[in-house]
Amino acid sequence: MKGLLNLALVGLALASSGSDSSCRCRPHQSCWPVEQEWIALNRSVQGNLQATQPVAAPCHEGNKKACAAITQEWTNSTWRATQPGAVQWENWEARPELNESCVLETRQTTCGQGRISLYSVLAKSASHIQDAVRFAKRFNLRLAVRNSGHDFVGRSTAPDSLQIFTYWLKNIQFSDDFKPAGTPKSEGPAVTIGAGINLMELYAAVGQKGRTVVAGTSHTVGAAGGYIQGGGHSLMGPWKGMAADNVLEFKVVTANGTLVTANSHQNPDLFWALRGGGGGTFGVVVSATLRTFDEAPITMVNLNVSTVAKNPGFWGAMADFHAAIPSLNDAGASGYYFITPNMPFKKMEVSRLSILLFFPNQTNVAKIDKLVAPLQSKLNATAGLITEYASIPFPSIHSLLSGLLIRGNMDPTGKNVILGSRLFSRELLVSHNGPGKLVNAWKKLKFNPGDTITGNIVAGGAVAKNAESVDNAINPAWRKAATHMYFARYWAPNATLAQQQEVIRNMTEVDMLVLKDVEGYKMGAYPNEANAYEPNFQNEFWGSNYPRLYGIKQKWDPNGLFIARKGVGSEDWDDAGLCRIKRK
Ligand SMILES: Cc1cc2nc3c(=O)[nH]c(=O)nc-3n(C[C@H](O)[C@H](O)[C@H](O)COP(=O)(O)OP(=O)(O)OC[C@H]3O[C@@H](n4cnc5c(N)ncnc54)[C@H](O)[C@@H]3O)c2cc1C
Ligand SMILES: *[C@@H]1O[C@H](CO)[C@@H](O)[C@H](O)[C@H]1NC(C)=O
Ligand SMILES: *[C@@H]1O[C@H](CO)[C@@H](O)[C@H](O)[C@H]1NC(C)=O
Ligand SMILES: *[C@@H]1O[C@H](CO)[C@@H](O)[C@H](O)[C@H]1NC(C)=O
Ligand SMILES: *[C@@H]1O[C@H](CO)[C@@H](O)[C@H](O)[C@H]1NC(C)=O
Ligand SMILES: *[C@@H]1O[C@H](CO)[C@@H](O)[C@H](O)[C@H]1NC(C)=O
Ligand SMILES: *[C@@H]1O[C@H](CO)[C@@H](O)[C@H](O)[C@H]1NC(C)=O
Ligand SMILES: *[C@@H]1O[C@H](CO)[C@@H](O)[C@H](O)[C@H]1NC(C)=O
Ligand SMILES: *[C@@H]1O[C@H](CO)[C@@H](O)[C@H](O)[C@H]1NC(C)=O
Ligand SMILES: *[C@@H]1O[C@H](CO)[C@@H](O)[C@H](O)[C@H]1NC(C)=O
Repeated sequence: MKGLLNLALVGLALASSGSDSSCRCRPHQSCWPVEQEWIALNRSVQGNLQATQPVAAPCHEGNKKACAAITQEWTNSTWRATQPGAVQWENWEARPELNESCVLETRQTTCGQGRISLYSVLAKSASHIQDAVRFAKRFNLRLAVRNSGHDFVGRSTAPDSLQIFTYWLKNIQFSDDFKPAGTPKSEGPAVTIGAGINLMELYAAVGQKGRTVVAGTSHTVGAAGGYIQGGGHSLMGPWKGMAADNVLEFKVVTANGTLVTANSHQNPDLFWALRGGGGGTFGVVVSATLRTFDEAPITMVNLNVSTVAKNPGFWGAMADFHAAIPSLNDAGASGYYFITPNMPFKKMEVSRLSILLFFPNQTNVAKIDKLVAPLQSKLNATAGLITEYASIPFPSIHSLLSGLLIRGNMDPTGKNVILGSRLFSRELLVSHNGPGKLVNAWKKLKFNPGDTITGNIVAGGAVAKNAESVDNAINPAWRKAATHMYFARYWAPNATLAQQQEVIRNMTEVDMLVLKDVEGYKMGAYPNEANAYEPNFQNEFWGSNYPRLYGIKQKWDPNGLFIARKGVGSEDWDDAGLCRIKRK
């Protein structure tokens, strides 16, 4: 009897340690690697293991000199990108629910580790990544894969984690005629980039060779990390497709520590998933091979529309502009536009729309002027509106990027920010009252002075056409989209948890519902620039591709070593990715 009871107790103990093993190993637990083990890891990664502190720690320790340097660089994305103890957005460095943060602005309080990793492997080679992955697997650690740290959804940080820092993987290699491994078929000119190459570096390198690539408009966003694995939109999109449509091959370290090649021929399921299925989820990409194109001239159009704030004609003009997008897009235009309903200007407030359109490989400026004129004259006819127009030819895409769009060496960063976004279809914009419906939804949101809605005309054209020829994991809504629109909500560094939760609640339960209502649930959102608290992320971010993605995730990472917030398979874990909430 006693024996049986003991057995039962042993059984219970086993069961409870079994359920513990559905959580990651945390510091102060007996499973946590001892000093010797960290030393061994450090040796295997050639001394590139670092114990990581939040970057603002010196400011909380009264180290004035170090703090002054940090203060200087606080909003410099290029600097932040190089710091394992930081990401770009303060809110993903913190754990407000535990009152843990370490920012400049509140330096009187103690420095909390928050979501900043405890250790970081500053990877300089694929084998460093393999060592880190095997170590995390062996000790059941939470892993964070971190490149530039720009992620808006909190995917590049994780509490109590080991970080794999990919930023220093900076190799670049050109090929005139790339043959994906294992295939006899040549895919033409391409460039193979290390996982840490950022957009500024990529553009500089291809520009020098008289080539161009499909990539984003930023200095420090990584070219081969979250950007491309999340789909990658581009002003070159309508011309040549999504960035993910133009990947030819990945080299990737998978959850068992193996370095594999993924292309259309080898491991095609992994290749499919990595092209749009989201960063930090299927493995650690070591390098990516991207198609390159002949450099081309490009013409830019800039149309500004302004009026005094609260002129009802402003929103009508927004509808007129959106109604014009499909035909501009058909003529080859891509673009970005910025709607500021309430902009302080001198002593008054104005409403403003500033549009940039791009016509890659088009030099006939007169023809382009003629194309935009009907829109401008329509806007001119609206009472109280002032328009300004310019068309500027650039001799190359590179000159447009380096001379105008990504001038300088950094992007603005270092705030507490969440985004709300939506893909809106071409079908909506060509329908009779579609543009009005779209504009009425945006009009319902609350805009503080200076708040801007950003529109991205980065689909249509080749993005739509590739629906027939490219099978990858991007949100299928992209193939039907005419515009990707987003806006931001901020909180102050000293905002209380309750204040933060109110901003999140307003975004998720008020603003996003208004936007989703425009087209029901048939479209969706771009996972890289979306609400970090999206409850229905599976469908919103990946639509009909989700079940296949989930299956591929189970095949390549059955134990969930790679979990990214709101990423494929993350629903099986708690928000921090520390404990499994769904039994396998
Ligand atoms: C200023 C600015 C401009 C932007 N412009 C554009 C744009 O023009 N077009 C566009 O589509 N998006 C744009 N974005 C959004 C951008 O795509 C996302 O922020 C993206 O997540 C950044 O990827 P990253 O690798 O640089 O960042 P990180 O935050 O380091 O990583 C993002 C995600 O990818 C994972 N990841 C990173 N590296 C790897 C790797 N080697 N292997 C596996 N997983 C990895 C991380 O784990 C994380 O889940 C912009 C963002 C900013 C801030
Ligand atoms: C790893 O080794 C390097 C070089 O010897 C050393 O500078 C670093 O502090 C070590 N990292 C850890 C976490 O001990
Ligand atoms: C931003 O940081 C980078 C890297 O540290 C540095 O080279 C650059 O000069 C900084 N830019 C500004 C404007 O301070
Ligand atoms: C959060 O921590 C700070 C010290 O770091 C303390 O002053 C503050 O009272 C704490 N707030 C809560 C809600 O616990
Ligand atoms: C890792 O996974 C790959 C692909 O499934 C498999 O080929 C390989 O044998 C595995 N390696 C180890 C060490 O388990
Ligand atoms: C640019 O257009 C010309 C013809 O107008 C075409 O031959 C060329 O291939 C185009 N360039 C690219 C990179 O598509
Ligand atoms: C619109 O008005 C502006 C400013 O008055 C003027 O310069 C421009 O030529 C007009 N354009 C069209 C197409 O009507
Ligand atoms: C549009 O406005 C921007 C400033 O917001 C200005 O730099 C630009 O010159 C304006 N464009 C035209 C055509 O006047
Ligand atoms: C945050 O700081 C601002 C001033 O910088 C102050 O007005 C505000 O009350 C503070 N908020 C909280 C919650 O402490
Ligand atoms: C949330 O929305 C309500 C209702 O529109 C508004 O009164 C409140 O100020 C908003 N809160 C925040 C933090 O934006």
